[in-house]
Amino acid sequence: MNYHQMRNKELREELKKRGLKGYSSLKKTQMIKYLSTGIHPVKKTQISSKIADGEIRDASSGGFRYSPTILGTTEKLPINQIVLGDCLKVMRTFPDGVFDCCITDPPFNMSKKKGLGWAFSSHVTMQEQWDIFAEDDYFQFTVNWISEVLRVLKTNGNLFIFGSFHCIFTIGFILQNLFDRRIISQIVWYKPNAQPNITCRMFTESTEFIIWAVNNESKKAKNWTFNYEIIKAMNNDKQMRNMWEIPLTKKSERKHGKHPSQKPSAVINRLILAGTNEDELILDPFSGTGTTAVVAEQHKRKWIMIEKQEEYNQIAQNRLDELSGSLFEDGSNDS
Ligand SMILES: C[S@@+](CC[C@H](N)C(=O)[O-])C[C@H]1O[C@@H](n2cnc3c(N)ncnc32)[C@H](O)[C@@H]1O
Repeated sequence: MNYHQMRNKELREELKKRGLKGYSSLKKTQMIKYLSTGIHPVKKTQISSKIADGEIRDASSGGFRYSPTILGTTEKLPINQIVLGDCLKVMRTFPDGVFDCCITDPPFNMSKKKGLGWAFSSHVTMQEQWDIFAEDDYFQFTVNWISEVLRVLKTNGNLFIFGSFHCIFTIGFILQNLFDRRIISQIVWYKPNAQPNITCRMFTESTEFIIWAVNNESKKAKNWTFNYEIIKAMNNDKQMRNMWEIPLTKKSERKHGKHPSQKPSAVINRLILAGTNEDELILDPFSGTGTTAVVAEQHKRKWIMIEKQEEYNQIAQNRLDELSGSLFEDGSNDS
């Protein structure tokens, strides 16, 4: 049996286990969608239990189990702490609807087992184990963590997700088509000093994207936070556009240790000032070096970070310890 046949067999077994019917003639991608949503991809009918208004399916548990509108207590949450562990497992310990905002930079699924090194640059092609997924696993992984984020986020809470062209379409599809969340805008982060393209077979990659979504069905979303005046004031009193020219993370921000995809504080700074208010609680389930926490601290927001690699947590902790207020000396005017 080859890989594809094995994968199809696994998917059929999983569908059977969950009591989902009518899968025998489905293709692999259709089976994955059926598993993720509980909705038959061809018949478009809900085979398993009914989804109540506002409920979201947690694909990994196989059940319908929560509503994002319930306000939980924040008393026992690890406020202003970095939690070491797998974000899915950690988020499952949080109550529904406790976070005001989620800002996150997930694995992009762009790593290659055999990457091209770039000897003359401090940037190296991604070869991180945490960023390598089998063909269908990335889709399912993304469905799983997004569904858990939507559960722990308040209704109408802001959600900012980073991505490159490798993953942003998958993330957008999941938010719009599987969960019917409202997309407010897409921000293009343009890196004027992006590394050159050594293959010379394509345009030089110099952008990342940030999807800004609101945690409610697209037609019901309302009253999301957007601090228009603050953002306008930051931009010489002109409306800020959704194309942000900000250089790559400066060396001064990376002095506590290396991470292949640490974000510049200046990018996170704009998101936090635009999309949150003082004292609000921000989640980042893929914390890396804790850039979200560092900027949240600066602006008196509360935060919870989750990261599964201890070495990155150490870098984040060192950054937080050092925090002194000189974060935005990176060429942007976000001081
Ligand atoms: C793109 S990086 C985030 C970088 C971060 N924005 C920063 O500025 O440093 C993604 C991070 O997610 C972590 N990660 C990947 N899968 C994870 C999981 N299942 N649970 C928790 N952390 C995970 C990786 O170790 C990596 O540090």
